[in-house]
Amino acid sequence: MKTFNFLLLSIVAIGLYSCGPKMIYPGEVWTDTEQNMINAHGGGVLYHNGTYYWYGEYKNDSTYHAPGVEWDCYRTEAGGVACYSSKDLHSWKFEGVALKPDMANPESDIHPSMVIERPKVIYNEKTGKFVMWMHIDSYNYSKAATGVAVSDSPTGGFKYLHSLRPYGEESRDMTLFKDGDGKAYHVYSAKGNSTLYIHLLSDDYLEHTETYKAVFPGKFREAPAIFKRQDKYYMITSGCSGWDPNEAEYAIADSMLGEWTAMGNPCVGENADRTFGGQSTHVITVDPENDKYIAMFDKWNKLDLINSRYIWLPVQFHSADSITIEWKDEWSLNDL
Ligand code: GAL
Repeated sequence: MKTFNFLLLSIVAIGLYSCGPKMIYPGEVWTDTEQNMINAHGGGVLYHNGTYYWYGEYKNDSTYHAPGVEWDCYRTEAGGVACYSSKDLHSWKFEGVALKPDMANPESDIHPSMVIERPKVIYNEKTGKFVMWMHIDSYNYSKAATGVAVSDSPTGGFKYLHSLRPYGEESRDMTLFKDGDGKAYHVYSAKGNSTLYIHLLSDDYLEHTETYKAVFPGKFREAPAIFKRQDKYYMITSGCSGWDPNEAEYAIADSMLGEWTAMGNPCVGENADRTFGGQSTHVITVDPENDKYIAMFDKWNKLDLINSRYIWLPVQFHSADSITIEWKDEWSLNDL
């Protein structure tokens, strides 16, 4: 009887846990299923075969100022790219470091002395490969390149291919966007971060094509995050103030390579002019039919980068294709 009662209680507890409100606490510590802090900064989420994969910068635990660099260049040793998996966007299992740093070769792009930032992964249906692009830089950010890695499995191990400057152009903050027609784009801050480039990738997603568009020349936008709702494309960006927060802006377009129209700051409420202390990194398309999208931001802690937090907030849609992102101390994924 005792065993039966115990079993019954366990089943009820498991039931309550899985059906209960899945709360998100923007800006607070978020732990994985092993109760360790999630270490996936500047990240993005891929949905593949019923599972979400969260990729991000795997930061080392000592932050230091890059020697000899005049600006606010705080950094950690590059630890590669972490991967977490989840069925519900709430409970995340650490799948390990999907792209491991190259500890042995100091000349390697992915040696810990380098910068590996803003990794994003998309799946290529034609080749069956998971393709990762990331910002690769030298310790003082003068290399300004982008790196590519591939894997047969979403959790890795990703094989690092190389870094490059697209057609010789600088490339720093970046994202990837895969459209409904299978075309994929690399979106990056170029020309000393003054201009965003939207660059069509080859069919295998491994190279740039000759087709690109320069948007907002001279406007110094970075940290791009792109999503599509109905027939409109949305891009959220930050200004350029390093690890310090600034005002976000969003823009809309009828096609990726079309005209982008700036629409102002999507954030509303206290501290909205500083993006609630955060910086955009990705927007998760959860259920486009029902307007369910989650905007992801990093709340950087520049003096202790591993202790940077995540701000996830729902995107709200209004008439004339406008959006708002409102601060919430807590919210439930069930209410999204
Ligand atoms: C920000 C950028 C971050 C990181 C930081 C370094 O502007 O968005 O990803 O590169 O600068 O200071």
